[in-house]
Amino acid sequence: MQYSAKVMDHFSNPRNVGEIADADGVGEVGNPTCGDIMKMYLKIDGGRITDVKFKTFGCGAAIATSSIATEMIKGKSVDEALQLSNKAVIEALDGLPPVKVHCSVLAEQAVKAALSDYYRRQGVDPEPIVGKL
Ligand code: FES
Ligand code: FES
Repeated sequence: MQYSAKVMDHFSNPRNVGEIADADGVGEVGNPTCGDIMKMYLKIDGGRITDVKFKTFGCGAAIATSSIATEMIKGKSVDEALQLSNKAVIEALDGLPPVKVHCSVLAEQAVKAALSDYYRRQGVDPEPIVGKL
């Protein structure tokens, strides 16, 4: 199995690791097959993601995909963050081995789960906006 230099970089030196105590949205997702868990914290101001942190209990690819996902949505609007796809995450990492594609799906879902929580806290039903998780 071959990992790209970008995957190795984000695995060895993950960006935005941690928690946000007063987050505006928190999402946690897990993959029942591998047992990996991702938690994503968002700080949102005026519809823009001003800060994002993550904690991943999982494989190296899960750490790398969550790390790059935080970089991809930081500073973006909520609407832009909703467009983040696992394919875009894979491309940004210069590829992932096929058995690790589900790790990128987990990263997309973690962002969407955190955005869903954000909408819920505003009293908005997230499902029509974010979709089913
Ligand atoms: Fe433990 Fe893969 S599940 S190393
Ligand atoms: Fe399951 Fe990576 S092996 S998230």
